[in-house]
Amino acid sequence: MTSENPERAFVWSWLPGAGEPVPTGVLEALPAPAGFVITFAYGRSYLANEAAIPLYLPELPLGRGRIEPGPGLDVAGVIRDGAPDAWGQRVIMRQFALDARVHDPGEVPLLAYLLRSGSNRPGALDFQDSPTDYVPRLHDAPIEDLLMAADAIQAGDELDASVAEALTAGSSAGGARPKATLVAGSRNVIAKFSAPTDTYPVIKAEAAAMQLARLVGLDVADTELVEVAGRDVLLVDRFDRVGGGGRRAFVSALTILGLHEMAGRHATYHDLADVVRRRFVRRRETLRELFARIVFNIIVGNTDDHARNHAAFWDGDRLELTPAYDICPQARAGGEQVQAMAIAPDGNRLSQFTTCLDAANNYDLSESEARLIIDQQIQVVTECWDEVADDVGLTGPERRELWGNQVLNPFASFGYGT
Ligand SMILES: Nc1ncnc2c1ncn2[C@@H]1O[C@H](COP(=O)(O)OP(=O)(O)OP(=O)(O)O)[C@@H](O)[C@H]1O
Ligand SMILES: [Mg+2]
Repeated sequence: MTSENPERAFVWSWLPGAGEPVPTGVLEALPAPAGFVITFAYGRSYLANEAAIPLYLPELPLGRGRIEPGPGLDVAGVIRDGAPDAWGQRVIMRQFALDARVHDPGEVPLLAYLLRSGSNRPGALDFQDSPTDYVPRLHDAPIEDLLMAADAIQAGDELDASVAEALTAGSSAGGARPKATLVAGSRNVIAKFSAPTDTYPVIKAEAAAMQLARLVGLDVADTELVEVAGRDVLLVDRFDRVGGGGRRAFVSALTILGLHEMAGRHATYHDLADVVRRRFVRRRETLRELFARIVFNIIVGNTDDHARNHAAFWDGDRLELTPAYDICPQARAGGEQVQAMAIAPDGNRLSQFTTCLDAANNYDLSESEARLIIDQQIQVVTECWDEVADDVGLTGPERRELWGNQVLNPFASFGYGT
């Protein structure tokens, strides 16, 4: 039985191409002036394995001994990326009745979250009580039951024990929205649910945005909008799963930029572009794709483009941008709008095409190349909007509510002459 305040957790990882995890190292919680820090040390068997890769660089280089988290961090970013986020923490708090004792999910120690959350977590890591026995925490349930359990958690209602366990098994998927992980044959998806607090059809809007993103030519995770018990559910195909039980390691842009989650406001697109230039494969294409994603976020009003909503695969040496995910038009009030990450080195984050145009050279694009990207996207979104809105089942009033407000708000085009 996992203790409420574990002192250590063992990390297991899937090496590139492997179908099974291997013991990799140990995390230990040590007291520190600001509460605690979690150190990591590679295990001997892992260091002796010729196929071993560093979990992420520069923060966890292969070698013996405890590694402290980088400056400003309480745990290595790559470990934090595999931990439950706001939604998963809420599920775990309920499942283990921790909410009866603590009020703030932040009071539960990270190692307790790591050891209680499900094993089907993002990337190629898992966390275990033992360095010798791998016991995955997996539990399937029909999607209808998972949806009902997610509703019950949000309403503060009692949960059926078995379904609660299944929801907990999916609790390791990050993010704040209600969701579950599902495995159906070789298909691995994240199911995103609507929430009672939604003030517009969020799931349909995300489905439409993801479809439009594909149509403008971005590299996007596959999605399917389905109806479950009369409700919209967005199934997002996972890009971190490969055939034969393999998993692909990836790190968030927050980790790439070496930032603590509380310092996410310091994450910027142009710093990310600098890292792309230094450490990514296919640098030029990736810079162009990054720029195109910024433009698209502005077009569809996705201002929730924070550093956990960008990620890159990690193979032990180089980074490779993952397909885009979590592109969802956000509720907006008033005209002026900003993106979550600054676009230009002067800190400009205004959700406008002129911001992109002025910053184009930071993405190795000329002004005319940038204009082509912006104009092409505006054209495709304008031409395809009705078809896509039909496809995801937005009603007339719903699509009129989105168009010109979240999608292609006049503020985005202000000052931008074609
Ligand atoms: N297609 C995918 N394949 C693998 N991992 C994914 C995929 N889509 C999302 N993820 C992972 O799951 C996490 C949560 O997903 P997502 O960002 O869609 O949820 P969310 O609750 O809407 O997030 P937010 O809190 O940003 O609104 C992501 O941060 C990412 O780590
Ligand atoms: Mg997200």
